[in-house]
Amino acid sequence: MGEETERNSAVKYRPFTFFGGKGGTGKTSCAAAYAYSLSQRACRTLLVSTDPAHSTSDILGLPLSAEVSRVAENFWGIEIDAGLEAKRYITSIQDKMLSIVSPVIVDEIKRQMEIAYTSPGAEEAAIFDKFVELMDEQGAGKRFDAIVFDTAPTGHTLRLLSLPEILGSWIESLIAKRQQAVSLFKMGGRFDPEMQKRAEDDPVIESLTLRRDRFEKSRRYLTDPSACAFFFVLNAEKMPILETGRAVEMLQKYGIPVGGLIVNRVIPEDAGAFFEPRLAAQGEYLKVIRERFAHMKIATVPLLRTDVQGLEQVGKIANIIGEIDS
Ligand SMILES: Nc1ncnc2c1ncn2[C@@H]1O[C@H](COP(=O)(O)OP(=O)(O)O)[C@@H](O)[C@H]1O
Ligand SMILES: [Mg+2]
Repeated sequence: MGEETERNSAVKYRPFTFFGGKGGTGKTSCAAAYAYSLSQRACRTLLVSTDPAHSTSDILGLPLSAEVSRVAENFWGIEIDAGLEAKRYITSIQDKMLSIVSPVIVDEIKRQMEIAYTSPGAEEAAIFDKFVELMDEQGAGKRFDAIVFDTAPTGHTLRLLSLPEILGSWIESLIAKRQQAVSLFKMGGRFDPEMQKRAEDDPVIESLTLRRDRFEKSRRYLTDPSACAFFFVLNAEKMPILETGRAVEMLQKYGIPVGGLIVNRVIPEDAGAFFEPRLAAQGEYLKVIRERFAHMKIATVPLLRTDVQGLEQVGKIANIIGEIDS
């Protein structure tokens, strides 16, 4: 892992690709299309959907679920249920915390967890946790050549991408605390082999260490341009350009490689007289995008006559997006 892989001479792909951008710009469509283009180039690809509206299923024209299922040759999909994952995520953290802290503050922790669970960031944190798990499995088992993530909207996602660093040190301090408790426990039971054994195989330290190692690994992938790329999807409009600029800068600040931009829903030049004013504005915005992001790869995807539905439509976008990697 970590090296950019070439399966046949024209195809380069990285193990992890993320699609960011504002809701409605076409992230899910582009992620599906990119995954499809990889699969068509003999790359075993998993598309990870996080969309609560099941739009990936609509776009692919077949239902995805929480289990990996086959979409087409070399193409698999999975849909993460954010609500369910959030519940699982908070419960697992809570269990760990409760086994570490003194009973006096248990109620306070439970209250904090309740707040955390209902906070707007909880679902994204859970999704990111699931991403980390998938990345770790991928690194270990190589079940797929590439995983394509259809991420949540810009703001949250970006904050989450900085989580490994924050969470890393948080977990570190939990481990230290637990080690202290365990060594006291060991001292208390120094004449009792049973207690000694229990202290040595402490499951809490084990699970915290696993979590820390996972975060550390995923942080390494995320900051390695040969392992990961982040594509931004935007439309040729004023606001998305400003937001994309901020998002790109933010990622660069964290050392996360930006693979390129995808300008989606570009109205074709021959769209007719009715579209002329829009075409003129679009031309201006495309110019601004090309100037503002001059150092980046930019792909433009045309506005299709209908919504993206079914693999045939996805294939039309796939041909264009696939080239952003070459
Ligand atoms: N190039 C395109 N041409 C026509 N419709 C598109 C295009 N890209 C996306 N759409 C449609 O726009 C809607 C939103 O796209 P989606 O990929 O779900 O966006 P996001 O994931 O960013 O919210 C969907 O109905 C999709 O079919
Ligand atoms: Mg989406």
